Amino acid sequence: MVEIIHPVNSVEGSVRLPGDKSVSHRYGMLASLAEGPSKIHNYSLGADCQSTLACMRSLGVSIDSDGTEVVIHGVGLDGLRAFEGTLDAGNSGSTIRMLSGILAAQPFVTRIAGDESLSRRPMARIMTPLAQMGARIEARDGKFPPLEIHGAKLSPIDYALPVASAQVKSCVLFAGVFCEGVTTVREPIPTRDHSEIALREFGAEVESAGGVITIQGRPKLAGKELTVPGDLSSSAFFLVAALLRPGSKLSIEHVGLNPTRSALMDFLAAGGARLRLLNILQDSGELIGDLSIEHSPWKGGVLEGAMTAALIDEIPVLAVLGAVSEEGLVVRDAAELKVKETDRIATVAENLRRMGVTIETRDDGFRVPGRQRFQAAELDSFGDHRIAMAFSVAALAASGPCTIHDSAAASVSFPQFYQILREISR
Ligand code: S3P
Repeated sequence: MVEIIHPVNSVEGSVRLPGDKSVSHRYGMLASLAEGPSKIHNYSLGADCQSTLACMRSLGVSIDSDGTEVVIHGVGLDGLRAFEGTLDAGNSGSTIRMLSGILAAQPFVTRIAGDESLSRRPMARIMTPLAQMGARIEARDGKFPPLEIHGAKLSPIDYALPVASAQVKSCVLFAGVFCEGVTTVREPIPTRDHSEIALREFGAEVESAGGVITIQGRPKLAGKELTVPGDLSSSAFFLVAALLRPGSKLSIEHVGLNPTRSALMDFLAAGGARLRLLNILQDSGELIGDLSIEHSPWKGGVLEGAMTAALIDEIPVLAVLGAVSEEGLVVRDAAELKVKETDRIATVAENLRRMGVTIETRDDGFRVPGRQRFQAAELDSFGDHRIAMAFSVAALAASGPCTIHDSAAASVSFPQFYQILREISR
């Protein structure tokens, strides 16, 4: 699919975002392991989160879904059934990595695979702790999907994450659910804590302090009613659109504002973005609220260390903003970008260069000088949802219409993206 994006004068209106991708995955998996039904509102329609539901169905969980309203009939900790075929995680790193923690504890063997992009993503980071817990996992070339997971009775571990990764942390915590005793994960820098929150919501005992997270094994998880907050990472595309076009004014309703995700707002505000948060409340352990933004010039900034980790998914669209900012954007400590759905240092640089924008890349980041302009260009998602959306936003400020090839990649996390973009374009 190809999308032609025309430049706009401004973006205006009110946006309701799809359910958060990270939270949807966790609710989908944990509700499956709970006793009894869970009713989940605003579950993400993105292909990734649907892959999680499809995998859980294949493992014997009955799931009724009517769009974003999902009822999951949990089977309890010992109720999953072996699947004869190969589970399909699609494009979803979260599905394969987090679900592997659950599969490693089952009394059966499971094969799980994904698309071409997922088949190139590193899995040793989950294989190492799961092997220490007692599972045997075979992988292509010892480290890539497909995985063949030989489940076992797992033992708890105390595991220090070598890379800051919420997916790996969650994988170990989910495996810890099945162990007798306490499993501990230590993280070098804080990562999103949706798993900790969701586990507690379903009834597990999870403690977290100073980067040390513990879970008591064999909790009794109980089905419940939950609402997935709007996806803050998806809001980034619209916030940046508003900062690109003078006169823009947007409000975004019911967004997740979890402090481990909201560095985006701090970073935009530090560069001068006029952002306001309203109606903040807590629902199912997650902070949510409404967000509004008015156009203002953005100064630029430097992303490094813990900020880079906290904003890793937003970096493609921040690179776009950096190009038109006053002082540009520098990104450091971001080697993880190279093992996302695409090598995002390479795919961001390629599209920016096609638009006539200068970028200097390094092994762990890049520098985009400010005060540049976007020329109309043929752009490519390279099959990566966040690249499709980041460059659709850049196209709003281009010198003429831009073509986004393989634009359908956006549906991995945000199938309604182009429709909403059209609705707010003026
Ligand atoms: C996610 C964690 C991050 C992020 C991904 C979703 C999660 O990945 O990039 O989009 O839901 O836990 P890593 O764990 O690889 O950093």
